[in-house]
Amino acid sequence: MRSADTYIQSKLDERTSSGIYRALKPESNLIDFCSNDYLGFARSLALRESIAREISIYPQNLNGSTGSRLISGNLIYTENLERQIAAFHKSEAGLLFNSGYDANVGLFSSLPQKGDTVIHDELIHASIIDGARLSHANRYTFRHNDLDSLEGKLKQAKGICYVIIESIYSMDGDIPPIIDILQLTEQYNAHLIIDEAHAVGLYPSGLVTHLNLQDRVFGRIVTFGKALGCHGAIVLGNNLLRQYLVNFARSFIYTTAASFHQLASIKMAYELLENANDDIGQLKNNISLFKQGINPNPAYRLLNSDSAIQCLLLNSNTKAKQAAGHLQNTGFDVRAILSPTVPQGTERIRVCIHSFNTTADIDRLTATINTFINAE
Ligand SMILES: Cc1ncc(COP(=O)(O)O)c(C=O)c1O
Repeated sequence: MRSADTYIQSKLDERTSSGIYRALKPESNLIDFCSNDYLGFARSLALRESIAREISIYPQNLNGSTGSRLISGNLIYTENLERQIAAFHKSEAGLLFNSGYDANVGLFSSLPQKGDTVIHDELIHASIIDGARLSHANRYTFRHNDLDSLEGKLKQAKGICYVIIESIYSMDGDIPPIIDILQLTEQYNAHLIIDEAHAVGLYPSGLVTHLNLQDRVFGRIVTFGKALGCHGAIVLGNNLLRQYLVNFARSFIYTTAASFHQLASIKMAYELLENANDDIGQLKNNISLFKQGINPNPAYRLLNSDSAIQCLLLNSNTKAKQAAGHLQNTGFDVRAILSPTVPQGTERIRVCIHSFNTTADIDRLTATINTFINAE
């Protein structure tokens, strides 16, 4: 074996023996309680048809974008779409990226400089950590949603300081005390940036606009692969930030632009979102139904969340995998979230609720979970 292969095999063996080996699975016909398609847009026939109609209106636009935005991949359509999305989220400007991962890596690797400070919640998404690591800025984490912990880090900050939170956390599904965090960052002249990946949809244009904080927040990230049912992301901020990212964000500069099909999908998904009140209402009902259906059990806590992400802590990788396996065998696509993705002792099943889940499915799911957790 070559030395690299020996290394690779040993790392994979380590994963297997710790019970955290990751393997790809093909699509299943289980009932979806794990995807981010909160409003059912990814499966919407109406959206599929409107995308096809939109594409037919622009026969001159090519299948592929043919290059990066700065070379041959920029369309009037792209820039109009950016303006429309920015207006929808009440932002001065926005810049599209090919994914939320690209947006976060581009923003956080290029904006904070050596000597600046990035402070983020300990549960922040990996893409933000990866971006900030590339930036050479000082990086601190604060305890999840803990204002004292945040203040402690703000006191140590040097240079320009950026505080980064999510408006709904992807692994816990909870909402941070956004207004308090904003006040604290303002007190220390820091700049607050909020990742709205999981909030847009349930709150149609996100929690920042819901709370009317758009003029006080420095930047936002909205991703299109979750409630919007397609793919891509936008960084929202002022015109200056947009121009800066066009010049310095490497994940924007050195990549082929999104295809016209992707842009049309995003545009039509936003149109659908403007008329999605019924789906949003149904999603909220389904979230309540799920929460009411889970019987309290002191050993296995349901995390406090009003979002579509509901987590039942099972406290070990073994138990979480057992629960997910049992639910899958019963017909539900529910996934275990294991350590080290979440801290040890907080391993869980993560149930994603959707507008299209039926009352009968949710009742059966909660009954199955209750039987499992009360079986001992
Ligand atoms: C909070 C958050 N930010 C960013 C991303 C990355 O977005 P994308 O899937 O579009 O790369 C995700 C998705 O996993 C996320 O949960």
